[in-house]
Amino acid sequence: MKKISIPHLKEMKARGEVITMITAYSAWQARLVDEAGAEMTLVGDSLAMVEKGYPGTLPVTVDVMVDACAAVTRGTSRSFVVGDMPFLSYEVDRAQAIANAGRFVKEAAVDAVKLEGGLERAETIRAIVGAGMAVVGHIGLTPQSATLLGGFRVQGRDLEGARRLLADAKAVEEAGACALVLECVPAPLARLISERLTIPTIGIGAGGGCDGQVLVFHDILGLYGDFRPRFVKRYVEGGKILKEALETFVDDVRRRGFPDEAHSFGLDEALIEELRG
Ligand code: KIV
Ligand code: NA
Repeated sequence: MKKISIPHLKEMKARGEVITMITAYSAWQARLVDEAGAEMTLVGDSLAMVEKGYPGTLPVTVDVMVDACAAVTRGTSRSFVVGDMPFLSYEVDRAQAIANAGRFVKEAAVDAVKLEGGLERAETIRAIVGAGMAVVGHIGLTPQSATLLGGFRVQGRDLEGARRLLADAKAVEEAGACALVLECVPAPLARLISERLTIPTIGIGAGGGCDGQVLVFHDILGLYGDFRPRFVKRYVEGGKILKEALETFVDDVRRRGFPDEAHSFGLDEALIEELRG
Protein backbone atom coordinates (compact mmCIF):
# COMPACT_ATOMS: atom_id res chain seq x y z
CA MET A 1 0.00 0.00 0.00
CA LYS A 2 1.25 3.49 -0.82
CA LYS A 3 2.97 5.29 2.03
CA ILE A 4 1.30 8.49 3.28
CA SER A 5 3.42 11.56 2.46
CA ILE A 6 3.50 15.18 3.64
CA PRO A 7 1.90 16.41 0.35
CA HIS A 8 -0.86 13.80 0.86
CA LEU A 9 -1.58 15.18 4.36
CA LYS A 10 -1.61 18.78 3.08
CA GLU A 11 -3.96 17.79 0.23
CA MET A 12 -6.30 16.14 2.74
CA LYS A 13 -6.48 19.45 4.62
CA ALA A 14 -7.05 21.40 1.39
CA ARG A 15 -9.89 19.04 0.43
CA GLY A 16 -11.41 19.21 3.92
CA GLU A 17 -10.78 15.50 4.57
CA VAL A 18 -10.09 14.78 8.22
CA ILE A 19 -6.80 13.10 9.21
CA THR A 20 -6.68 10.37 11.89
CA MET A 21 -3.65 9.82 14.09
CA ILE A 22 -3.33 7.11 16.77
CA THR A 23 -0.37 6.43 19.05
CA ALA A 24 1.55 3.13 18.99
CA TYR A 25 4.62 1.95 20.89
CA SER A 26 5.35 -1.52 19.49
CA ALA A 27 5.16 -3.44 16.22
CA TRP A 28 1.84 -5.18 16.96
CA GLN A 29 0.18 -1.94 18.03
CA ALA A 30 1.53 -0.22 14.92
CA ARG A 31 0.12 -2.97 12.71
CA LEU A 32 -3.35 -2.54 14.25
CA VAL A 33 -3.21 1.25 13.81
CA ASP A 34 -2.01 0.92 10.21
CA GLU A 35 -4.64 -1.70 9.33
CA ALA A 36 -7.36 0.42 10.98
CA GLY A 37 -6.57 3.08 8.35
CA ALA A 38 -5.07 5.89 10.46
CA GLU A 39 -3.05 8.17 8.19
CA MET A 40 -0.61 9.01 10.99
CA THR A 41 0.95 6.96 13.81
CA LEU A 42 2.49 8.76 16.77
CA VAL A 43 5.11 7.12 18.94
CA GLY A 44 4.30 9.48 21.81
CA ASP A 45 6.42 9.97 24.89
CA SER A 46 3.16 8.98 26.59
CA LEU A 47 4.98 5.63 26.25
CA ALA A 48 6.59 6.50 29.60
CA MET A 49 3.17 6.29 31.27
CA VAL A 50 1.10 3.77 29.30
CA GLU A 51 3.90 1.26 28.61
CA LYS A 52 6.64 1.86 31.20
CA GLY A 53 4.65 2.69 34.33
CA TYR A 54 6.07 6.15 35.05
CA PRO A 55 3.70 8.78 36.45
CA GLY A 56 4.65 11.29 33.71
CA THR A 57 6.53 11.64 30.40
CA LEU A 58 9.76 13.26 31.63
CA PRO A 59 11.87 10.16 32.46
CA VAL A 60 11.78 8.59 28.98
CA THR A 61 15.12 8.62 27.09
CA VAL A 62 16.10 8.99 23.43
CA ASP A 63 17.32 5.35 23.45
CA VAL A 64 13.93 4.06 24.61
CA MET A 65 11.99 6.27 22.17
CA VAL A 66 14.21 5.33 19.20
CA ASP A 67 13.83 1.62 20.04
CA ALA A 68 10.02 1.98 20.18
CA CYS A 69 10.00 4.00 16.94
CA ALA A 70 12.02 1.29 15.15
CA ALA A 71 9.50 -1.36 16.26
CA VAL A 72 6.62 0.85 15.08
CA THR A 73 8.11 1.53 11.64
CA ARG A 74 8.73 -2.23 11.25
CA GLY A 75 5.03 -2.79 11.96
CA THR A 76 3.82 -0.05 9.60
CA SER A 77 3.36 -0.11 5.84
CA ARG A 78 1.16 2.89 4.99
CA SER A 79 0.80 5.29 7.93
CA PHE A 80 3.05 8.37 8.37
CA VAL A 81 5.09 7.65 11.51
CA VAL A 82 5.98 10.47 13.91
CA GLY A 83 8.35 9.99 16.86
CA ASP A 84 8.22 12.16 19.99
CA MET A 85 11.55 13.66 21.03
CA PRO A 86 11.76 13.32 24.82
CA PHE A 87 12.22 16.09 27.36
CA LEU A 88 15.67 17.76 27.19
CA SER A 89 16.70 16.00 23.97
CA TYR A 90 16.13 19.16 21.86
CA GLU A 91 16.13 22.14 24.28
CA VAL A 92 19.81 22.34 25.22
CA ASP A 93 21.21 23.49 21.88
CA ARG A 94 20.57 23.18 18.15
CA ALA A 95 23.44 20.79 17.40
CA GLN A 96 22.18 18.32 19.99
CA ALA A 97 18.59 18.71 18.72
CA ILE A 98 19.71 17.91 15.14
CA ALA A 99 21.84 14.96 16.30
CA ASN A 100 19.01 13.49 18.38
CA ALA A 101 16.42 14.02 15.64
CA GLY A 102 18.87 12.27 13.33
CA ARG A 103 18.85 9.17 15.53
CA PHE A 104 15.05 8.88 15.09
CA VAL A 105 15.42 9.16 11.32
CA LYS A 106 18.56 7.03 10.82
CA GLU A 107 18.05 4.29 13.43
CA ALA A 108 14.24 4.10 13.44
CA ALA A 109 13.25 5.38 9.96
CA VAL A 110 10.50 7.65 11.28
CA ASP A 111 8.88 10.03 8.80
CA ALA A 112 9.01 12.98 11.21
CA VAL A 113 9.95 13.92 14.76
CA LYS A 114 7.66 15.88 17.09
CA LEU A 115 8.74 18.40 19.66
CA GLU A 116 6.84 20.60 22.08
CA GLY A 117 6.81 24.40 22.07
CA GLY A 118 5.84 27.43 19.98
CA LEU A 119 7.72 30.70 19.55
CA GLU A 120 10.51 29.54 21.86
CA ARG A 121 11.02 26.43 19.71
CA ALA A 122 10.89 28.00 16.23
CA GLU A 123 14.66 28.19 15.74
CA THR A 124 15.11 24.55 16.76
CA ILE A 125 12.38 23.43 14.35
CA ARG A 126 14.03 25.48 11.58
CA ALA A 127 17.40 23.88 12.32
CA ILE A 128 16.07 20.28 12.21
CA VAL A 129 14.11 20.98 9.00
CA GLY A 130 17.22 22.67 7.62
CA ALA A 131 19.13 19.45 8.24
CA GLY A 132 16.63 17.63 6.03
CA MET A 133 14.16 16.14 8.52
CA ALA A 134 10.41 16.66 8.87
CA VAL A 135 9.08 18.12 12.12
CA VAL A 136 5.63 18.09 13.71
CA GLY A 137 4.99 20.85 16.27
CA HIS A 138 2.98 20.56 19.49
CA ILE A 139 1.47 23.55 21.32
CA GLY A 140 -1.27 24.26 23.87
CA LEU A 141 -0.91 21.91 26.81
CA THR A 142 2.68 20.68 26.44
CA PRO A 143 3.09 17.93 29.07
CA GLN A 144 6.90 18.16 29.17
CA SER A 145 6.60 21.71 30.58
CA ALA A 146 3.26 21.31 32.39
CA THR A 147 4.76 22.62 35.64
CA LEU A 148 5.36 26.01 34.02
CA LEU A 149 1.80 25.99 32.66
CA GLY A 150 0.38 25.52 36.15
CA GLY A 151 -0.50 21.86 35.61
CA PHE A 152 -2.56 19.87 33.13
CA ARG A 153 -5.12 22.45 32.10
CA VAL A 154 -6.75 23.92 29.01
CA GLN A 155 -4.57 26.63 27.40
CA GLY A 156 -5.53 29.88 25.64
CA ARG A 157 -8.71 30.65 27.55
CA ASP A 158 -8.10 34.40 27.95
CA LEU A 159 -7.33 36.95 25.22
CA GLU A 160 -3.62 37.10 26.02
CA GLY A 161 -3.27 33.31 26.11
CA ALA A 162 -5.28 32.90 22.91
CA ARG A 163 -3.13 35.53 21.10
CA ARG A 164 -0.02 33.74 22.31
CA LEU A 165 -1.26 30.38 20.94
CA LEU A 166 -2.05 31.94 17.56
CA ALA A 167 1.47 33.41 17.48
CA ASP A 168 2.94 30.04 18.55
CA ALA A 169 1.05 28.26 15.74
CA LYS A 170 2.23 30.77 13.13
CA ALA A 171 5.82 30.56 14.37
CA VAL A 172 5.82 26.74 14.15
CA GLU A 173 4.40 26.84 10.60
CA GLU A 174 6.88 29.52 9.48
CA ALA A 175 9.74 27.50 10.97
CA GLY A 176 8.89 24.74 8.49
CA ALA A 177 6.87 22.20 10.50
CA CYS A 178 4.71 19.87 8.38
CA ALA A 179 1.86 19.53 10.93
CA LEU A 180 0.93 20.84 14.37
CA VAL A 181 -0.61 19.05 17.36
CA LEU A 182 -2.99 21.22 19.42
CA GLU A 183 -3.52 19.80 22.90
CA CYS A 184 -6.23 21.01 25.30
CA VAL A 185 -7.18 24.17 23.39
CA PRO A 186 -10.75 25.58 23.42
CA ALA A 187 -12.57 24.29 20.31
CA PRO A 188 -13.33 27.71 18.73
CA LEU A 189 -9.68 28.82 19.12
CA ALA A 190 -8.38 25.54 17.65
CA ARG A 191 -10.75 26.06 14.70
CA LEU A 192 -9.41 29.59 14.16
CA ILE A 193 -5.79 28.39 14.33
CA SER A 194 -6.63 25.62 11.83
CA GLU A 195 -8.13 28.20 9.43
CA ARG A 196 -5.06 30.44 9.72
CA LEU A 197 -2.53 27.69 8.94
CA THR A 198 -1.81 25.88 5.68
CA ILE A 199 -0.26 22.89 7.50
CA PRO A 200 -2.71 20.40 9.07
CA THR A 201 -3.57 20.75 12.76
CA ILE A 202 -4.10 17.54 14.72
CA GLY A 203 -6.19 18.05 17.85
CA ILE A 204 -6.42 16.26 21.18
CA GLY A 205 -8.90 17.91 23.50
CA ALA A 206 -9.16 20.66 20.88
CA GLY A 207 -12.64 20.08 19.42
CA GLY A 208 -13.96 19.16 15.99
CA GLY A 209 -12.55 22.12 14.05
CA CYS A 210 -9.03 20.73 13.70
CA ASP A 211 -7.79 19.15 10.46
CA GLY A 212 -7.16 15.87 12.26
CA GLN A 213 -7.65 14.08 15.57
CA VAL A 214 -5.26 12.09 17.73
CA LEU A 215 -5.87 9.84 20.74
CA VAL A 216 -3.65 7.50 22.72
CA PHE A 217 -4.03 3.80 21.72
CA HIS A 218 -4.53 2.69 25.33
CA ASP A 219 -7.19 5.38 25.91
CA ILE A 220 -9.25 4.35 22.85
CA LEU A 221 -9.07 0.70 23.85
CA GLY A 222 -9.52 1.03 27.63
CA LEU A 223 -6.09 -0.39 28.42
CA TYR A 224 -4.78 2.25 30.83
CA GLY A 225 -6.23 2.82 34.29
CA ASP A 226 -9.50 4.41 35.23
CA PHE A 227 -8.57 8.08 34.82
CA ARG A 228 -10.51 9.47 31.89
CA PRO A 229 -9.93 13.09 30.86
CA ARG A 230 -12.93 14.81 29.24
CA PHE A 231 -11.44 14.55 25.73
CA VAL A 232 -10.91 10.77 25.81
CA LYS A 233 -13.52 8.49 24.32
CA ARG A 234 -13.19 4.80 25.15
CA TYR A 235 -14.38 2.52 22.34
CA VAL A 236 -13.93 -0.79 24.15
CA GLU A 237 -13.20 -1.93 27.70
CA GLY A 238 -10.11 -3.72 26.40
CA GLY A 239 -8.44 -4.09 29.77
CA LYS A 240 -11.53 -5.75 31.23
CA ILE A 241 -11.94 -8.13 28.27
CA LEU A 242 -8.26 -9.12 28.25
CA LYS A 243 -8.23 -9.63 32.04
CA GLU A 244 -11.26 -11.92 31.80
CA ALA A 245 -9.43 -14.06 29.22
CA LEU A 246 -6.33 -14.26 31.44
CA GLU A 247 -8.49 -15.19 34.45
CA THR A 248 -10.10 -17.97 32.41
CA PHE A 249 -6.63 -19.32 31.55
CA VAL A 250 -5.55 -19.21 35.22
CA ASP A 251 -8.75 -21.01 36.16
CA ASP A 252 -8.25 -23.62 33.39
CA VAL A 253 -4.72 -24.40 34.61
CA ARG A 254 -5.83 -24.63 38.25
CA ARG A 255 -8.57 -27.14 37.52
CA ARG A 256 -6.23 -29.03 35.12
CA GLY A 257 -8.49 -28.18 32.19
CA PHE A 258 -5.43 -26.94 30.28
CA PRO A 259 -3.59 -28.41 28.46
CA ASP A 260 -6.04 -30.98 27.13
CA GLU A 261 -5.18 -33.62 24.52
CA ALA A 262 -5.75 -31.20 21.66
CA HIS A 263 -2.96 -28.97 22.99
CA SER A 264 -0.47 -31.75 23.87
CA PHE A 265 1.93 -34.04 21.97
CA GLY A 266 1.30 -37.82 22.13
CA LEU A 267 3.71 -40.75 22.24
CA ASP A 268 3.30 -44.40 21.30
CA GLU A 269 1.81 -46.31 24.26
CA ALA A 270 4.25 -49.28 23.86
CA LEU A 271 7.23 -46.94 23.97
CA ILE A 272 6.19 -45.40 27.24
CA GLU A 273 5.52 -48.89 28.75
CA GLU A 274 9.07 -49.91 27.72
CA LEU A 275 10.46 -46.85 29.51
CA ARG A 276 8.44 -47.61 32.66
CA GLY A 277 10.07 -51.08 32.64
O1 KIV B 1 2.78 11.57 23.82
C1 KIV B 1 1.67 11.58 23.25
O2 KIV B 1 0.93 10.58 23.20
C2 KIV B 1 1.26 12.84 22.60
C3 KIV B 1 -0.14 12.95 22.11
C4 KIV B 1 -1.11 12.92 23.24
C5 KIV B 1 -0.35 14.11 21.22
O3 KIV B 1 2.06 13.73 22.51
NA1 NA C 1 3.94 13.54 23.69
